[in-house]
Amino acid sequence: MLKLNRRIAAIKPSATLAADARATEMKLAGIDVISLGAGEPDFDTPERIKQAAGKALAAGQTKYTPVGGTAALKNAIKLKLKRDNNLDYEPGEIIASAGCKQAEANVIAALFDEGDEVIIPTPAWVSFAAMVSLAGAESKFVPCSERSGFLLEPETLRRAITPRTRGIILNSPSNPTGAVYGPEQLTAIARVLVDTDIWVMSDDVYEHIVYDGLAPHMFHLEPRLKSHGIVFNSLSKTYAMTGWRIGFAAGPKEAIAAAGRLQSQNSGNPNSITQAAAIEALTGPQDELKPMLEAFRKRNALVVERVRRIPGFKLPNIPQGAFYVFPNVSELLGSRFGDKEITDGDGLAAFLLDQAHVSLVGGNDFGAPDHVRISYATSTENLNRAFDRIEGAVAKLKR
Ligand SMILES: Cc1ncc(COP(=O)(O)O)c(C=O)c1O
Repeated sequence: MLKLNRRIAAIKPSATLAADARATEMKLAGIDVISLGAGEPDFDTPERIKQAAGKALAAGQTKYTPVGGTAALKNAIKLKLKRDNNLDYEPGEIIASAGCKQAEANVIAALFDEGDEVIIPTPAWVSFAAMVSLAGAESKFVPCSERSGFLLEPETLRRAITPRTRGIILNSPSNPTGAVYGPEQLTAIARVLVDTDIWVMSDDVYEHIVYDGLAPHMFHLEPRLKSHGIVFNSLSKTYAMTGWRIGFAAGPKEAIAAAGRLQSQNSGNPNSITQAAAIEALTGPQDELKPMLEAFRKRNALVVERVRRIPGFKLPNIPQGAFYVFPNVSELLGSRFGDKEITDGDGLAAFLLDQAHVSLVGGNDFGAPDHVRISYATSTENLNRAFDRIEGAVAKLKR
């Protein structure tokens, strides 16, 4: 067996990207697969942003830039953080990276060490735990009950903190549950964390995809958190720019500088053309988001209704953000199709891919094996076709 680095050997490929890859393979083989696995908006990047990229290319902005992004991009991010989040950050407290994912991986690697614990309320996005273990630290998964709307409760958090706790990763709206923290819940959690030296990391990538209005930022509600807080965000979801690879982190200078040193050695600056496009995205008119949000809102209603009609799928809470629902499928576990038994959400997802040609993601890697994640970043026509097929396939299961 080839000997690999111990930490890399333990890393699995991202479950969500793996589900996408399987669906793409089947499509290439001519099978009409409907994908409800995508973690990206199905809209195209707005024209003004593409034009800014074209201009940058024509103007020869094709060279290395400062590692953490150009001064103009950092100023645009500063403006965005003030406008959208009411947070003040200086350019020296900001780093731009190739997607929020890279910003998170670099900051997490810069902050944590062996022996450190990082709290991850679950269900959680699949990559947080991998990033923590790559840094040599340990994830402390803290399950959040469906009853509490998958939201971390202050008492649960208090009990999870140990002398080794060095960080916590919060993500609202959440991938995979669509749960959104309101101002009271954020304030209550902030109260537990404010007088500690725990790094509070806020992943805000879905902040604009909320159906009940944007909550104030946790670091605005409790400004003292900023001294040990990191904001992570991205242009991927807000501006339908997943393929462009641009995201950022903002936080105390020393932490951001350390992530910058790592970035300078392992990748360098984010793509120069993408940076120019990102400046336009962040500083230009912000009205393209409205129609996207309206489309997601309609699909949310449709998907909730259709999911609740499938026997064995339970969705007690209506997700208030992002473009995912995360139904509980525990009633279907133990049921059979031929000689195959469905033992968890991943097994159900595999069955639905085989029998219904619908791709979704099982809950195992999100820390919730009794669930499946359904993305509604696709047309209502596709959604209706997919749910017809899922209903047909589930009816074939013997309980
Ligand atoms: C919670 C969360 N954070 C970060 C990311 C990564 O975003 P980016 O495309 O900017 O790397 C995703 C993508 O699915 C996500 O769901």
